[in-house]
Amino acid sequence: MGDGRRLPVVSARVRIIGWLFGVLALALSALVFLTWQVLAARADAAADDELTHEANKFRAFAKSQAAASFTRPEALLDRWLQSNLPDDSEAFFTIVDGREYHRSQGTPPARLDTDATFVRRLADATEPSYGWIDSPAGRVRYGVIPVQIGEQPVRARLVVLEFRDVIAKPSMDAARWLVIIGAIILAMAAGGCWLVTGRVLAPIRQLRTTAERISDSDLRRRIDVVGNDDVAQLARTFNTMLDRLEDAFTSQREFVDNAGHELRTPITVIRGHLELMGDDPRDRAETKALVLDELARMNRMVDDLLVLAKSDRPGFLELGEVNLTELVVEVVAKARPLADRAWRVAATADATIVADGQRLTQALMQLVSNAVRHTKTGDRIEVGSQLDADGSALLWVVDSGPGVAPEDRERIFERFARGNDQRRTEGAGLGLAIVRSIAQGHGGDVRLAPGPGARFELTLPVSEEVGVR
Ligand SMILES: Nc1ncnc2c1ncn2[C@@H]1O[C@H](COP(=O)(O)OP(=O)(O)OP(=O)(O)O)[C@@H](O)[C@H]1O
Ligand SMILES: [Mg+2]
Repeated sequence: MGDGRRLPVVSARVRIIGWLFGVLALALSALVFLTWQVLAARADAAADDELTHEANKFRAFAKSQAAASFTRPEALLDRWLQSNLPDDSEAFFTIVDGREYHRSQGTPPARLDTDATFVRRLADATEPSYGWIDSPAGRVRYGVIPVQIGEQPVRARLVVLEFRDVIAKPSMDAARWLVIIGAIILAMAAGGCWLVTGRVLAPIRQLRTTAERISDSDLRRRIDVVGNDDVAQLARTFNTMLDRLEDAFTSQREFVDNAGHELRTPITVIRGHLELMGDDPRDRAETKALVLDELARMNRMVDDLLVLAKSDRPGFLELGEVNLTELVVEVVAKARPLADRAWRVAATADATIVADGQRLTQALMQLVSNAVRHTKTGDRIEVGSQLDADGSALLWVVDSGPGVAPEDRERIFERFARGNDQRRTEGAGLGLAIVRSIAQGHGGDVRLAPGPGARFELTLPVSEEVGVR
């Protein structure tokens, strides 16, 4: 297709998964973010608690009997360091006379006692103070407690370090797992969605490709209907539509083929006669008569074809008031000169209906001309009308001819269908098709009633548009 304005096709599948993925990812990120925040706050609080706990322990020790005997603060601190073992997430060290003095046993997560800047900063503290500092082992909550014995100037300090990231490690690990598992679930959800949408959308995709491939030359394709859900229903509706389209195209093509074929015959006849025409005036007059006859036939056929073509379109009928008696009388009056038959107007209904009078006359004249064609001089042809109890009208044409062969009874109403007894020159087989279109245009139909002879009946139902007055 050369339509440059066509928008790029975004597959519905990609869009659905995109949305799902986006929403899930957002929800998961929010969850992870909140969890992380809560865990971090809790870790901070835990580090703080630990620090307070250690500070209180030290204060209690400093005020105890055991500490009273120390005269030098470094001795008191050494004692405390010996008797107090730090957890894995903490470390203590002491600062005496501005320098790092001793540290607690064990290996701390990171050495801060060797950080000269840090030590120098804490070495001036005269009041207990707290703070946060970054270390190779993550954030550290520290507290410095100056130690004073008697009235001596403050020379020694205890530093307590709480490695917050070490305290928080188990819960942070859990949060990390949350992220990993969340990502796996997200991937699985996307994969599952891909499969499910694939299954759900497959019929729609097939519908699209089928619709794209359909051209008037190939209307035979259909969609495989699986299951009984909405999509299957859509496919079924689509297939039904294709059936109707195919029927319409086929009948139209047949119609055009038949029309072409039927028109070709008189053309060939005319041509043959003109080519063989000699100079003999009698011969010429004969040829002229024959050619005019064939042209008249062609003309009639083209008129009939136009009526049939029009019959499918709106505006085929021009409704008005039609008196049934007048209609029948008029048809018989028109028919009488056609042939020498025993013409009869049967019982007629003195009723007026809403219908297209000209089209009804046309239908009855087709029936009458058939009747003439199948009867002989003096045979009876009868036209009549009647109003049924429900208000529907019945129009009929009966003749005393041979009637229609049982095998032809249905077929003769089709376009270009002629009885087997017919000679080619007698008609194209469009008459009854026209009668049927006119009847159906009025919401009714035409049927062949049981004999003797041929009795064609046109039924016109009462409806809002075509009603009795
Ligand atoms: N009154 C009748 N008696 C016997 N057979 C009939 C009668 N009317 C129609 N038929 C049969 O029905 C066939 C179809 O009729 P229809 O009017 O459609 O075509 P046609 O008369 O052959 O051609 P056209 O009407 O186009 O000139 C006829 O060929 C004929 O065999
Ligand atoms: Mg006819």
